Amino acid sequence: MYLINHVVATTVTLILVDLTTLSECRPNNICRNFIDYSSIQTNPNCWYNPDLGATAEQIATRYGFPFEEHEVTTGDGYIITLFRIPHNGSDVHRKRPVVFLQHGIAADGYTWMVAGRNSSVFIFSNQGYDVWISNCRGTEPSSKHVKYTPYDREFWLYSFHEMALYDIPAMLDFVAAKTQQQISYVGHSMGCTMALIYTSLMPQQAQTNLKSIVALAPVAFMDHVTSAVKLIVPFRYIIWEVLSSAGIYGVGPQLKNLQRLSHLCGSYPFIKVCVLTNALLSGINTMEASASAFPIGIRHFPIGLSMKTIFHYAQIMDTRRRFQFFDYGPELNWRLYNSSLPPEYPIGNVRIPMHLFYGNRDTLSAEKDVHYLYEQLRTNKTIKEVFNFAHLDFLGATHSADLYYMLLDYL
Ligand SMILES: *[C@@H]1O[C@H](CO)[C@@H](O)[C@H](O)[C@H]1NC(C)=O
Ligand SMILES: *[C@@H]1O[C@H](CO)[C@@H](O)[C@H](O)[C@H]1NC(C)=O
Ligand SMILES: *[C@@H]1O[C@H](CO)[C@@H](O)[C@H](O)[C@H]1NC(C)=O
Ligand SMILES: *[C@@H]1O[C@H](CO)[C@@H](O)[C@H](O)[C@H]1NC(C)=O
Repeated sequence: MYLINHVVATTVTLILVDLTTLSECRPNNICRNFIDYSSIQTNPNCWYNPDLGATAEQIATRYGFPFEEHEVTTGDGYIITLFRIPHNGSDVHRKRPVVFLQHGIAADGYTWMVAGRNSSVFIFSNQGYDVWISNCRGTEPSSKHVKYTPYDREFWLYSFHEMALYDIPAMLDFVAAKTQQQISYVGHSMGCTMALIYTSLMPQQAQTNLKSIVALAPVAFMDHVTSAVKLIVPFRYIIWEVLSSAGIYGVGPQLKNLQRLSHLCGSYPFIKVCVLTNALLSGINTMEASASAFPIGIRHFPIGLSMKTIFHYAQIMDTRRRFQFFDYGPELNWRLYNSSLPPEYPIGNVRIPMHLFYGNRDTLSAEKDVHYLYEQLRTNKTIKEVFNFAHLDFLGATHSADLYYMLLDYL
């Protein structure tokens, strides 16, 4: 692990030094079109955007929004940092409706701020919301634990199941107590997986805390996934063995240098490789993909990614229409679940109004799977296809701002 880390660090540093010495102190770092990146320093379609490489706090402050951080400790000892944009500076003391944004896999709260002024956080804030932003365990802002550090194996023994049953309730209880209001939950991808688990297994608490759930590119049933991630399904045991023998149980702040690989995605020709990789993993719509948001969006990937999370999704992909608990193998399953197969999540229990939004270019949250999920829900519900989006277009694309204005009706 240290060797990999070291080699990556050296390579990345060399390339970055090489790139930055090409130009002066504020080199262009963003272009309008992907092709422009090949001549980024001379191309009139390119400019310098300080959001690239900035923290969530720096971005919010730059656009003139107040920024708060709040810490909560989960029942299993993780110390989570919530971001909050309480208002947009006007009419400060008015009581506002509360929206809670839950990021997807391998991402953090910064995810919701990658589209400049058109980011969901800023649009919701300007529409009068009190915006709370989650950073789940294992992300940089939430990398502390009362007992473990990200260097410990024990730190990474979680999937979205544990995040749904510990991180989500800890955060929502805190936000509800602080604001004295019911919360509108907006989740992207795994953020929707977690909403389904939380609301189906803790229905009472969820009904107290939540007003509605907006599920963007929801992932639950995974029969029609066409993403290249499907390729890992048959190899998952081998991958698990290899990674765990190398001491890698999750990608977080302890593998910072590996993470810096994503910095390369903002430079030519690496950006081509990154766009292609993203297209293979999550789909692409060339009319929506934003060349100016891509390097900013990819900057914090991957973070907070436990191997157990990937494993859990791989197991679900390997079933027929089962959105199920983690499969520990027949013996341990008997002990834990009183059955040889892991139980399915009882999503018929969900009582919160749930609104599903999916894009037809999304290879992870496939149209047929989202419709199947919709049919299983026994609550007030909506399903809508939007703008031929691919998986990441929900966070920053040609029409993402239009989507956020549309969501106001469902919050
Ligand atoms: C924000 O989105 C709107 C509506 O889609 C678009 O017209 C506008 O150009 C975008 N502004 C920025 C700064 O990206
Ligand atoms: C700030 O929020 C208020 C609603 O609280 C809204 O009326 C106002 O237009 C927002 N300001 C900007 C610059 O959008
Ligand atoms: C386990 O399953 C058996 C048979 O279905 C049932 O009788 C028993 O109560 C179950 N035990 C638990 C702890 O759920
Ligand atoms: C569903 O919507 C109807 C009409 O808006 C409302 O009367 C009902 O209480 C809602 N049910 C739930 C479970 O939210």
